[in-house]
Amino acid sequence: MFDAIVVGGGASGLYTALCLSHCYARVALLTKDNLSISASDWAQGGIAAVVDPTDSPQLHYEDTLRAGVGLCEPEAVSVLVHGARAQIETLVDLGVAFDRHRDQTLALTLEAAHSRRRVLHAADATGRALVSTLADHVGKNARIEVLEQFLVLDLILEDGRCMGVWGLDLRSPTTGVRALWAPVTVLATGGGAQVFAQNTNPPASTGDGVAIAWRAGAAIRDLEFVQFHPTALAVPGAPRFLISEAVRGEGAHLVDRTGDRFVFRDHPQGELAPRDVVSRSVFHHLEATGAKTVFLDLSPIAPDRIAYRFPNIIHICQQWRIDLYSQPIPVTPAAHYCMGGIATDVWGATSVPGLYAVGESASTGVHGANRLASNSLLECFVFGSRLAAHLAEVEPSHGRRGVDPGTAPHWPAPSPETTGALNQLKYDLQELVWHHAGICRHGDHLREGLEWCSSGDRTSP
Ligand code: SIN
Repeated sequence: MFDAIVVGGGASGLYTALCLSHCYARVALLTKDNLSISASDWAQGGIAAVVDPTDSPQLHYEDTLRAGVGLCEPEAVSVLVHGARAQIETLVDLGVAFDRHRDQTLALTLEAAHSRRRVLHAADATGRALVSTLADHVGKNARIEVLEQFLVLDLILEDGRCMGVWGLDLRSPTTGVRALWAPVTVLATGGGAQVFAQNTNPPASTGDGVAIAWRAGAAIRDLEFVQFHPTALAVPGAPRFLISEAVRGEGAHLVDRTGDRFVFRDHPQGELAPRDVVSRSVFHHLEATGAKTVFLDLSPIAPDRIAYRFPNIIHICQQWRIDLYSQPIPVTPAAHYCMGGIATDVWGATSVPGLYAVGESASTGVHGANRLASNSLLECFVFGSRLAAHLAEVEPSHGRRGVDPGTAPHWPAPSPETTGALNQLKYDLQELVWHHAGICRHGDHLREGLEWCSSGDRTSP
């Protein structure tokens, strides 16, 4: 029996568990992989926050609404931008080593659709700097019990209230499905961009939390709003490694093979237009020209600046024989982030009592139809800390134990043939979603895709 269960080992899970440990004595942190393997760990660009005196939360608020195409929840955006500074101070106190200028002020970069330089970073591996620091604190916290390789399957429901989770210890699957009890369950399971064949996410980003919440009857919203990042590495055989938007923020040009900065024809901000605009512009340009990729030209950035800001990108490009100092990087758009998810209020509460959600698996409405760059890490910290503060008020630890968890979900160990068929189905589904429900969608394509999903005879789409 725990006071709270947090599912997910990325930034939102780690931080929420730490915040909850201030008010609860027994917090379980469950992760289906090893701790900190997550999309947050892969986050490059940074974390948006107003720390510069010439910037203001009002400008951050307006930029967020504009990027969200008028579909953000204004209250959630206000909570986000006004809560940012306090979270940055906490992260610095925890030891996160953000880049700084010589005078020790925090270094800020620019990303698309921001009207100011307001993105804090740790070179081009900001997520890793955050997640490793948080994981370190979690590891030393006697109030948090970490269960790695524990796959949550479903929620335990009692009279419509969430009372914990059913899960499988992947290290000893023969022990069968286990029930873990807690009056508070937080899903911090990240997004599901792995459903697209072309994506920038780690393999763990399969949207499990949203599916679990949906099966429990929780309200889900905005799943159609998926963000496609315009610049993923496009080299035959290479995974769609993200080439951070900060590269464009630092001055790189997005060009086609003739050197044309074609995005300016679609938007006056060119390559620094909102992400959805740039991705669509690249998509249409590739369709119109028949080219396979466009290019990021880093020649406008001084070489020593490139070396200082993008060591990880340089390293990955070298692995694929691209010398980004002397040649442009081939890129195409790829699925990157899910704006939708488990509907929550601005305190993280879902429509199921006892169930909460935070981070990419949650949908507070803060991102509208298109998230402003680097608001996602910020969201994890602002909403994770609010959730804990709220629970300390309304949900004191009361040691309630459910009577009977009911029957454990059926979880047969797949045979080798089933595993093969499932892998093929997964591959086909990813291709289908990419081609039929990707960057630019049409009714006919969506209908065809749906028909394939519901037909019994699923030859490859
Ligand atoms: C990037 O570094 O381009 C990604 C940042 C984000 O997704 O906000």
